[in-house]
Amino acid sequence: MLLETKNLTRYFGGVKAVDGVDIEVKEGTIKGIIGPNGAGKTTFFHLLSGHLPPQKGWIKFKGEIINHLPPFERARKGIGRVFQQPSPFENLTLMENILISLDISNSPSLFTSLLRLPSLGKSEKEKEKQAIEILHFLNLEKKLHHFPSSLTHFERRKMEIGRVLALNPSLLLLDEPTAGLSYREKEEIKEIIWELKEKGLTILVVEHDMELITDICEEVVVLNFGKKIAEGSPWEIKNNPLVKEVYLGEEYASGS
Ligand SMILES: Nc1ncnc2c1ncn2[C@@H]1O[C@H](COP(=O)(O)OP(=O)(O)OP(=O)(O)O)[C@@H](O)[C@H]1O
Ligand SMILES: [Mg+2]
Repeated sequence: MLLETKNLTRYFGGVKAVDGVDIEVKEGTIKGIIGPNGAGKTTFFHLLSGHLPPQKGWIKFKGEIINHLPPFERARKGIGRVFQQPSPFENLTLMENILISLDISNSPSLFTSLLRLPSLGKSEKEKEKQAIEILHFLNLEKKLHHFPSSLTHFERRKMEIGRVLALNPSLLLLDEPTAGLSYREKEEIKEIIWELKEKGLTILVVEHDMELITDICEEVVVLNFGKKIAEGSPWEIKNNPLVKEVYLGEEYASGS
């Protein structure tokens, strides 16, 4: 297992945002996390990336308990978190933003090996080559000298993925990567996720789009009020009576 959590728990006052969640993520797989609004999905990611401490339970990454590690240490160990809100350096170009992440990662880029480039050192020229490879992979090569503010919503999303990829992660945490995107853009994100998996990355993805989940995930975990209520293949999840009830309940509640 690349990632394991046991009894992971986080309360906010009386709200049980994440309530005793156990999950296991096998290396090289894509696991989906779904659940109604407020189910605790983002909080779960905060716990994994170290942006919030749990009150109970543990997180094991690459066989080691990481509860005590701050976010930057977890990133260095290979946990790459892509936030819903991109936060690039707005006064730097896209290329420079990627280069900064490559500087921070300071290890021979896994992405380089993922892209089957020869193993590169960290000279400026070589780093530039890696940055261009990443931007090319994300179909952002033409925008490399642009500033983040001139990019579309979709391009900014991809830029954020690029910044995280440059940190050389082995686990990628994606929180609603296709929210607010068009059908064509969603398809491109799906393709990117798929290719990253093919290149060996392990991916944990939170999504409301059930079609995307079905298309890319081997396994799905369902959260409701902080608890794991189901786990299985997308097919099993779609046919799980408890899951159906939870989603139906949500539709009734929202009046749709
Ligand atoms: N910082 C916080 N302080 C207090 N309550 C919080 C905080 N963050 C989250 N919560 C509460 O914890 C619960 C889980 O929230 P979370 O954002 O993790 O849900 P989610 O599954 O990501 O929802 P969505 O699908 O809407 O993104 C909610 O009831 C939310 O109001
Ligand atoms: Mg959320």
